[in-house]
Order: sequence, then structure tokens, then C-alpha cells
Amino acid sequence: MVTYNFDQVISRQNTNCAKWDAAEFIFGEKDIIPMWVADMDLPTARPITEALKKRTEHEIYGYPLSVPFSTASAVINRMKQKYNWEIKPEWIVSTPGVVPALFTAVRAFTIAGDAVILQDPVYYPFWGAIENNGCHVANNPLKLVDGYYKVDFEDLAARFEPIVRVLPSPSRIRMMILCSPHNPVGRVWTREELTKMGEIVIGNGAIMVSDEIHGELLYNGHRHIPFASISKEFEQNSITCMAASKTFNLAGLEASVLIIPNDKLREKFEQTRQGFLPSANIFGMVALEAAFNDGDEWLVQFLDYLQHNMEFLSDYFEHHIPQIKVIKPEGTYLVWLDCRQLAMGPKVLAEFMTRKARVGLDHGFAFGPSGDGFERINIACPRSILAEALNRIKLAVNALQ
Ligand SMILES: Cc1ncc(COP(=O)(O)O)c(C=O)c1O
Repeated sequence: MVTYNFDQVISRQNTNCAKWDAAEFIFGEKDIIPMWVADMDLPTARPITEALKKRTEHEIYGYPLSVPFSTASAVINRMKQKYNWEIKPEWIVSTPGVVPALFTAVRAFTIAGDAVILQDPVYYPFWGAIENNGCHVANNPLKLVDGYYKVDFEDLAARFEPIVRVLPSPSRIRMMILCSPHNPVGRVWTREELTKMGEIVIGNGAIMVSDEIHGELLYNGHRHIPFASISKEFEQNSITCMAASKTFNLAGLEASVLIIPNDKLREKFEQTRQGFLPSANIFGMVALEAAFNDGDEWLVQFLDYLQHNMEFLSDYFEHHIPQIKVIKPEGTYLVWLDCRQLAMGPKVLAEFMTRKARVGLDHGFAFGPSGDGFERINIACPRSILAEALNRIKLAVNALQ
């Protein structure tokens, strides 16, 4: 058995990584702890590194199969083993990332002027995927009730009512982009919630694009359910976006998989991607396969470390910075911080975190109008880095009084 030491600090500076090496440029501060973009300051699983080394030794890196047979088997087995979801090899489509897949899906399944539902606050590229394709956002904001985010089902159903819908005619809602688990609020949707959302969306003739990239990043007691696994009807009217990149820290290797069971939807997607969306990177697929086949020993240890990081952070805010409330996540390594009690406008809050606390966070307003007054912190790092960041926030907040 390999025991991983996640406390070890490994410098990422001068490795051409976005998080650390672009931090000064992005935040305009030299001495900043970057806790923004969603990757980890932790090494991945040993079997993944071994599989990559082995592949490099072949020394011929020509065009790969879009979905290698062995990778398809790894995906099929993972879905069966984790979720008891039986998928077919031909349903699997590879892309170099979930974000380009989302942009392509909107392009494939809408026409300019259509509307696409999202749930604000949400991962900011969702907005771009819709608006850059000439579509309108039909916003179904999440409701924050006693520190817990919930779906507003009444509002979701109302989006489809022509009278309530405040959209330029003749927009039609063709799609919803679901974030499951949800970035940034950390919810892991229950079967009941997913079923209700699906009934409304699919019942009204739209399709569900379910971004499940965070599906394996779960805290104690929470279980991810792929939207499409709920029923044959959901399976036939949805696109599931998955990857090993978030779970195993492989984002730079550019590989993700879509599961598109409906032949017509898959053909349309494939037709639309022609010429501008390639399949996944050769090394990315090697890593994905190794992660799904042999990554669990690492994942169990990582999730345990993450659980402790989350508890450490929650405890720290509660006892040392009670002015900021932690929205306790059920999944993802991104934690949504409710800073509204500091009573700063969104830009002032962002400046405060950057200049006074000197931590590089993702600012809430980037996630949509409901994000004002919030900040998102990435806790996938050695605990000593997290502790230093929290100490900086504490000192900055104390200096306000
Ligand atoms: C919900 C969600 N989808 C997609 C991505 C990025 O996916 P990719 O790197 O595969 O484009 C992220 C990264 O943070 C994310 O949070």
C-alpha cells in the first residue's frame, strides 16, 4: 500500500501553472496565497504517474483513437461500480475538457435566440457557453435557506411558462445546464431533487446537460447520483459530462468524457464539433484510465484529508472569524464563504481579500448576481497553506474593527 503525505508542501512556482505563476498578474499582488482556480497543490496517484511514464517510453505520439477500447472499459466499469449505471461503449465521447464540451453542446442543441436554464450562483463558464452562442440565460437562482442552498422548483417550472418568462420572443428553452455536484455552493443533489428537476426540464421538452466533473469529490455521508442513471427517459434526454481531472488533479492533461446515450443527440454533437473540438489528449486518456482503474487507494486517502481540511476551515471561521459564514459543502473542494456580514460591496470585498488579506480567491460576483457578498476558496492544498490563508483573513477582518 502507498501512503500519501498530503501535508508535504511542493512548490508549484515556476512550473508554468496558472494558479501560482499567474497569481501576481491576476491579483496584482506579489505576496498572495492563490486559492482560486480549481486544481490542487497536491500530487496525484502513483499509478497515474506510472502509466504516463510507461506511455512516454513508447516514443511515438501520433493521433490516438478518440476513445481507446481500454479507456471505454475503464469508464464503463467505473459507472457500474460507483453508481450501478450500465452504459454502452458507443455512448462515450471524448473531449479535451468539460468546458469546451458545454460550449459545443449549446451550439449543437440550440439556435440563436433560444434560452438555456442555469442555477445562479454557478461556475462562470456556464454563462459564457450560453451567451457566446447567442442564447439567453433563463436563470433559476438557488434559494439560500438557513445556510443551505435549495432548488426553487416552482421558479424552475415557471421558466417554461410563456407568460412568466421574461425573454425575448420567440425564445424557447432547449436545455438546462446542471452543475452536479454544484460549484460553488457545494450541494450534492439528492435523487429526489434530481428527479424533480428532470421531470420539469425533460417534461417540457428540453434536454439536461449534467456537468458531473465534481461527482467523486464527496464529504462523509454524501452520495453522487448521475442524473442520467435515474430513468431511461432521463438517460435518453441528457448528456453527462465526466472526467478524472478534477478528482485526481489532472486538468493540464486535457481529457474528459461525455456520455450521450441518445443516438440522435450524439450524432448532432459529433457533427457540430467537426473542425474545432478535438478529442481528448493522448496522455489525458492514459491518466483517466489509470485513475479509474487504479486510483482508489489514493482517492480514499485524499478524501479523508479533504474532509479534515473542510472541518479545519469550518472550525476556524466559527471560532476566529465568525463574521464570515461557511456554507458547509457536501461535495467539491471549493468552499463558498458568506461574507455579507462584512457589509462591503462586491468589488470592495474582492479588494479586501486581495489587498488586505492577501489571499487570491474567486470572487462571488463572477458566479452570477446571487454571488454578490460571497467568495470561493479552494481547500485542496496542504493544511499549512490553508492555515496561513485563514490566518491572513483573520488578521485582515480583525483590523476592520
Ligand atoms: C463545474 C465545472 N465544470 C467544468 C470545469 C472545468 O472542466 P475542464 O477543465 O474539463 O474544462 C470545472 C473546473 O473548475 C468545474 O468546476
